[in-house]
Amino acid sequence: CMQTVGKLMKIFVTRRIPPEGMKILSAAGVCEVSLWDSDEPVPRSELLKGVQGAHGLLCLLSDKIDAEVLDAAGPNLKVISTLSVGFDHLAIDEIKKRGIRVGYTPDVLTDATAELTVALLLATARRLPEGVEEVKNGGWSSWKPLWLCGYGLSGSTVGIIGLGRIGLAIAKRLLPFGVKRLLYSGRTAKSHAAEVNGEFVPLDTLVSDSDFIVVSCSLTPETQGLCNKAFFSKMKNTAVFINTSRGAVVNQEDLYEALSSGQIAAAGLDVTTPEPLPTNHPLVTLKNCVVLPHIGSATYSTRGIMSDLAARNLLGGLQHRDMPSELTL
Ligand code: NDP
Ligand code: DGY
Repeated sequence: CMQTVGKLMKIFVTRRIPPEGMKILSAAGVCEVSLWDSDEPVPRSELLKGVQGAHGLLCLLSDKIDAEVLDAAGPNLKVISTLSVGFDHLAIDEIKKRGIRVGYTPDVLTDATAELTVALLLATARRLPEGVEEVKNGGWSSWKPLWLCGYGLSGSTVGIIGLGRIGLAIAKRLLPFGVKRLLYSGRTAKSHAAEVNGEFVPLDTLVSDSDFIVVSCSLTPETQGLCNKAFFSKMKNTAVFINTSRGAVVNQEDLYEALSSGQIAAAGLDVTTPEPLPTNHPLVTLKNCVVLPHIGSATYSTRGIMSDLAARNLLGGLQHRDMPSELTL
């Protein structure tokens, strides 16, 4: 078994993770696992303590891994494995500079996240949370011709910002609803767009022509705040906005304004800034805004597979082997 001069390698795991991953780590017999044994995030001070001398770090998207954490870890640190496909919480430049490898969890959560995105889109466009609430509070007085009407996908134009793995899977699931045109925007045209008859268009065209806009890009300096006042002002008044990427892609003040003024019809968000969104946040008060607590990949099976993959990525990195899903830095 792999050891560093007779001693087991040290791993810090920043949260309780599904048992699949923990089993793999203990069965490997190469490392001494120290776990932040809680379902809540590790406090920053404990993270800085926990990583000291670690050879491997298994972290979550709620842990900001920056120069301070890397310095606290010290020169032993060889691999960081995140239980997510998104890696905007990792200071990639600093990590690269130190020669640390990164593992992540692409593909295994694509279906679950695309499915949740479709659920959120339909729930938002057809006003499901409002309807459920009316049943509970006695607001349901009769069948009424225009009560709780929304917008349907049939014959619509859908615009996907970021036709990556998840964006493509969303498009495939939406097409059978009778979508007429599928637009997408991004840095480069994607060859896989042909699978969904996707038209690569400038962002402005996507925004002005779409009945449904779905954001599924990664969070980068370029996409941060992309959906702002100018963006919402170009949308149709009848259009629905959905974000399952990262909260920071959206300027939430501008979104609030667009939703409350009737500039756009509705929004569905699985991701916000901050997370959790304070319960008294203005967006939460709006009937035409559906906010979910970042549950895109939350199926039992997917989370188990993510845990398994994150553990195997970590071991691969520790043992100087291939990692099943290594991020190219
Ligand atoms: P991919 O890398 O496959 O897709 C990301 C896409 O974003 C790429 O196609 C990329 O295009 C595109 N992109 C980059 N910059 C821009 C831009 N300026 N404008 C438009 N598009 C851009 O990743 P995944 O599909 O696997 O995941 C996407 C994101 O979804 C993750 O980064 C994560 O933040 C989020 N996510 C959220 C979940 C949730 O629970 N809500 C669950 C899983 C993921 P290009 O290749 O040209 O750069
Ligand atoms: C990710 O993986 O980036 C998601 O946000 C959570 O699964």
